[in-house]
Amino acid sequence: MHDDVRRNQATWNAASADYQRRNAARLPTDDPTWGVWGIPERELQVLGDVSGKDVLELGCGGAQWSIALARRGARLTGLDLSEAQLAFAREQVKAAGVEVRLVHASADDTGLPSSSFDLVFADHGAPGFVDPARWVPEAARLLRPGGLLAFNAATPWLHACWDPERKAMGDRLVASYFGMRRFEDATDGAEPSMVEFMLGYGDWLRLFLANGLRVVDLLELRAPEDAWTTYTTYAPPEWARRWPAEQIWKVEKAG
Ligand SMILES: C[S@@+](CC[C@H](N)C(=O)[O-])C[C@H]1O[C@@H](n2cnc3c(N)ncnc32)[C@H](O)[C@@H]1O
Repeated sequence: MHDDVRRNQATWNAASADYQRRNAARLPTDDPTWGVWGIPERELQVLGDVSGKDVLELGCGGAQWSIALARRGARLTGLDLSEAQLAFAREQVKAAGVEVRLVHASADDTGLPSSSFDLVFADHGAPGFVDPARWVPEAARLLRPGGLLAFNAATPWLHACWDPERKAMGDRLVASYFGMRRFEDATDGAEPSMVEFMLGYGDWLRLFLANGLRVVDLLELRAPEDAWTTYTTYAPPEWARRWPAEQIWKVEKAG
């Protein structure tokens, strides 16, 4: 396991109980919502009809999304690196009375068979915490031809405007855009030992193309007017009304 992955694993194990308590209201298991502003899937329609599909959630945390999709008739695998998050997920799955296979692995080295999923997705799951040069090829390997990879994560805007000195989001560019890749202590003062990853738009595009993935859409999420969030150290709602703080890439494996 790479040092960054190991470091994030320790941080997520330590943060899990507090994370689940703080975010409980934003993690429904029936009507799933995207991101820190809780925008419903029923509005965004990112995943479409999942019934009968083999679906993998990368960085499932407490498996709330996985449970919601299992309830819609999909065959779910929830994968996470953190033992503490998976222990919470196991309880949630049992309480929900649905079938979700839980896998303990890192998103860049899953050990799962090639071409075994119709949909690989994440909502602020593993993609922000693993080097994209490592997890994107693994996701592409796991998808069947024609399968969809959809993931919500932070944006280059967010990382460029994060001021590590003040540990706050500003309205000025601070970090360099060119060469953007690995951040320590970025965008979340609450979890200081986290390592995060983000690429510029051209770098994302070339990485997808190099792995046989065609871009279907890029949804830049705007905070709703009445936005509220349990992520107090993320961008404030008024910031995210002006600039995109989250983005959902939808890319498809060549059929
Ligand atoms: C911000 S949480 C999001 C979890 C879930 N999607 C949710 O909305 O609550 C990020 C999750 O990614 C997991 N994670 C971080 N790095 C990972 C990796 N390399 N492989 C798999 N999971 C990882 C963490 O353990 C954590 O559960």
